[in-house]
Amino acid sequence: MPKGLLTGTVPPVALQRRWRDLVDRRLPQAARARPEWPVRVDHCFARILLDNACGGPWRESVAPPAWANMPPDRLAFAIDLGEAVLAAKADLGLLNRRSLAWRGKIGRAVPTSTPASLTGQGFVLRRWIRADDAPFAALNADPEVMRHFPSTKNRSESLIEARAIDRRFESDGFGPWAVEVPGEGFVGFVGAMRLIRPMPFAGGETAGANVEIGWRLARSAWGRGLATRAATLALADLFGRCGVPAVVAFTATGNTPSRRVMERLGMAFSEDFLHPALPADHPLQPHVLYRLRAEGAFAEGGQAPTDKAPEDHRS
Ligand SMILES: CC(C)(COP(=O)(O)OP(=O)(O)OC[C@H]1O[C@@H](n2cnc3c(N)ncnc32)[C@H](O)[C@@H]1OP(=O)(O)O)[C@@H](O)C(=O)NCCC(=O)NCCS
Repeated sequence: MPKGLLTGTVPPVALQRRWRDLVDRRLPQAARARPEWPVRVDHCFARILLDNACGGPWRESVAPPAWANMPPDRLAFAIDLGEAVLAAKADLGLLNRRSLAWRGKIGRAVPTSTPASLTGQGFVLRRWIRADDAPFAALNADPEVMRHFPSTKNRSESLIEARAIDRRFESDGFGPWAVEVPGEGFVGFVGAMRLIRPMPFAGGETAGANVEIGWRLARSAWGRGLATRAATLALADLFGRCGVPAVVAFTATGNTPSRRVMERLGMAFSEDFLHPALPADHPLQPHVLYRLRAEGAFAEGGQAPTDKAPEDHRS
């Protein structure tokens, strides 16, 4: 297996069969009755679904054939997306434009240009650079940072994630920003992602219909209110420049620091749900969902409801 590709468990045969049946037979067959679909043949459906499940050209993170080498969870995501397309719960045109934009075949998938950076008080939100790879890999390898995720990430996984995160700006016009603190450098990310995986919460079944705000910071940056202040700035840009009407945020039920950030942002608890990427009975499967609408939020001026620096919890 070449270096830099995702390795691990092979998808179970039943999942491989479902994938082959979906892209080789069901989608091309359904395309006959869907003149508005931008593609009709098996390999085009495979490209669109796999790229969107990988957040970039799939061959950059998975060795071909994808159905045999893709991590099972990611193949299941691609299958869910195909099912959403068949059920008219995903915009195949949008998914196709994202894939083509990542492959350099068209310009950006949405008509908006992204600023190189946004400046906050004591931090900058900016596009990712290659120098972020090492500190990002370090925080992804820290079990304490990844306590509420299924596992830490190795260097390859971290690198693939960094590229997929930055590509979001090309396909969607916004994405999780790299957070830089003067004197400290890169400390993590804060920002929004179009939610492509169909999710089991109200309105979540339509792929791409929701925008999720999220954060992950190195331990050295915790406890200074940085996530809240950075998210406030990112949200002002999202609600203003990008015209996004509402966002969701979710986390494992026990992730109190992340829930506190959501609450400080003025987000309202909406519901509990089970995360579809985790197996039944996994301790992290129970998740909480919060929502925030642009109207009535701090769309103008980028001021958080509580913008004063919180007590420092690091000592
Ligand atoms: C979630 C996260 C981004 C919060 O960032 P932050 O800048 O530290 O956030 P804040 O300083 O506003 O603190 C948020 C809450 O976490 C608590 N907290 C932060 N650092 C802490 C620490 N070292 N010890 C104890 N509590 C801490 C604070 O008590 C605060 O709660 P409060 O509002 O009741 O005071 C950060 O903890 C993190 O990166 N965690 C790991 C990755 C993660 O879980 N991401 C979210 C996935 S959905």
